[in-house]
Amino acid sequence: MGNVTVVDHPLVKHKLTIMRNKDTSTASFRRLLREISLLLAYEVTRELELTTTTIETPLTTMESPILEGKKLVFASILRAGNGLLEGMLDLVPAARVAHVGIYRDHDTLEPHEYYFKAPQDIADRLVIVVDPMLATANSSIAAVDRLKGRGANNLRFVCLLAAPEGIKAFTQAHPDVPVFTAAIDDHLNEKGYIVPGLGDAGDRMYGTK
Ligand code: PRP
Ligand code: URA
Repeated sequence: MGNVTVVDHPLVKHKLTIMRNKDTSTASFRRLLREISLLLAYEVTRELELTTTTIETPLTTMESPILEGKKLVFASILRAGNGLLEGMLDLVPAARVAHVGIYRDHDTLEPHEYYFKAPQDIADRLVIVVDPMLATANSSIAAVDRLKGRGANNLRFVCLLAAPEGIKAFTQAHPDVPVFTAAIDDHLNEKGYIVPGLGDAGDRMYGTK
């Protein structure tokens, strides 16, 4: 699958196994998602461009690397995206944040937007879109459509779990947006849930079921 990176670090695999377990508590689920998001953030930012700056160490002057360009944007697809967002902000605290409120209708699986707020100058920044679940990809395709409509032109998408159907749909709709995921599962069931999956990410994060 082109443009898809599976982040299969042993720590990611171990933590994901605990998250999948239906007996894992809400508190543990949230903590693990935050921990995994640090490892995913490490991978998705691996290719960030660097420049150099002149600094004085206690011993000498040196040319030392710093990130080039404007601060990046994390775009969280509400609500479950916030579980990834928080950990990523721990790693990149100066990042800007966009919020895209989208829920998918349980029956039609169509996405419905209820909120959108993004930095004005998003066209000048790398935008990392985050949502734990890529199932049909209807939500993430709609979110990226919306961000591109606001001018975003350099995007990456990070999720925790992806279905093969979702990856196919997303990469067809947005071939310019690389996908990073901790795992690609087997299939979607008739209700659009990822199998084996972990259930409803938002409900498990916030204890709403
Ligand atoms: C979940 C998930 C994704 C979406 C994935 O959100 O966080 O946004 O479903 O499914 P899709 O790829 O088929 O669109 P949900 O609609 O349950 O909203 P929530 O985050 O508010 O719980
Ligand atoms: N959204 C979820 O939260 N879980 C799935 O398995 C599919 C979509």
